[in-house]
Amino acid sequence: MNNFQYKNPTKILFGKNQIENIVHEIPANAKILLLYGGGSIKKNGIYEQVTKALLNFEVIEFGGIPANPEYTILMDALKIIKEEDITFLLAVGGGSVIDGTKFLSAATLFEGKTPWDILSKNIRILKGMPFGTVLTLPATGSEMNSGAVITRKETQEKFAMGGPGLFPMFSILDPEVIKSIPQRQIANGLADAFTHVLEQYMTYSVGAFLQDRLAESILQTLIEVAPKIMNDTSDYEAASNFMWSCTMALNGLIQQGVPSDWAIHMIGHELTALYGIDHARTLAIITKSHYTLNFEDKKEKLAQYAERVWNISEGTLDKKAKAGIAKTTAFFQSLGIKTKLSEYTTDYKGTAQLISKRFEERGWKGIGERGKVTPKIVEKIIEMSY
Ligand code: NZQ
Ligand code: ZN
Repeated sequence: MNNFQYKNPTKILFGKNQIENIVHEIPANAKILLLYGGGSIKKNGIYEQVTKALLNFEVIEFGGIPANPEYTILMDALKIIKEEDITFLLAVGGGSVIDGTKFLSAATLFEGKTPWDILSKNIRILKGMPFGTVLTLPATGSEMNSGAVITRKETQEKFAMGGPGLFPMFSILDPEVIKSIPQRQIANGLADAFTHVLEQYMTYSVGAFLQDRLAESILQTLIEVAPKIMNDTSDYEAASNFMWSCTMALNGLIQQGVPSDWAIHMIGHELTALYGIDHARTLAIITKSHYTLNFEDKKEKLAQYAERVWNISEGTLDKKAKAGIAKTTAFFQSLGIKTKLSEYTTDYKGTAQLISKRFEERGWKGIGERGKVTPKIVEKIIEMSY
């Protein structure tokens, strides 16, 4: 096992009726900016619950943060934060609203020339404005980690940012919010969380038995609840296990002491930036080709995954590893997710070269757990995903 230092300061309030407890988590004299997305919270009762809980606070609202939170819209929110002397941010939404809020938390205290630098130069944020979240969509784990991903439409870019100053102070996880989520987003949440675990697991063994088994148990739980929650979003047992699995998949715990990959995400973000494909679906497009092209480096872990997660006990190591890849693709497809780029756009030719060139220009010489996935290999992975 590798050395590590781990601290996660986010307080989780999990379960039914936890939204009303916001009142105990926000400083009494706070002036709050309540941030939300395109309006789903106004249709499913979450907005009422939150505003009722905030009755004794001074609250200003900022709605309209889109999926794949957009820089220019967030800059409008930043203006309000400054003009209104806001002291606390409350995100009510999925990964996009929470990530947008993290960017604002950082941008408010940022002393550099332009907040864009935080993204383009990936400046590590040590201190941000305090914020909390009410999670409405299990998927990203953003509710309990310190990372965010922000899009700039103008330049078709999507950049990650983060730092220890960007953990939410608290996050409310009420599985009842899942009831109103459309099936497409449930599928996205399952596929995103599943891939988060894979990115931190499908590397090479460092003898970290517990991290491996924690990762495998999250994958198994997602596989078990997937058909139940896809079929009935009001199944509370499935909803609660789905929600907690998504959080555990990316709150930093399973990544301690082990190598991690993240190549699928780095390539996937480019596909969202270029074509607007849902984040989780970009991952489903890339996974198979990435594992197939980097098979030699990953086959031990792939075989272990096939055995322990999918109960494949027959065959050689190579055969099991390949079966592991096939099972992963089949899992995505069982959620109704298409796994080829050409199934999302007809305009895909040249994508591989374009993304590989972008990586080169950014100086990303080699990504993945061994830094061996060069821009040339990225190009091949994308071509194989057409
Ligand atoms: O905007 P509203 O109207 O609220 O509707 C949203 C949105 O259209 C809807 N939704 C959310 N909760 C709902 C609901 N609809 C009905 N009932 C509810 N309870 O779902 C749609 C998608 O929401 P979004 O927040 O965009 O989805 P998700 O949570 O999947 O977030 C995706 C974003 O997170 C980033 C992605 O890149 C993408 O930008 N990621 C963030 C990560 C992190 N911070 O750690 C890691 C991830 O790998 C990912 O990159
Ligand atoms: Zn993701």
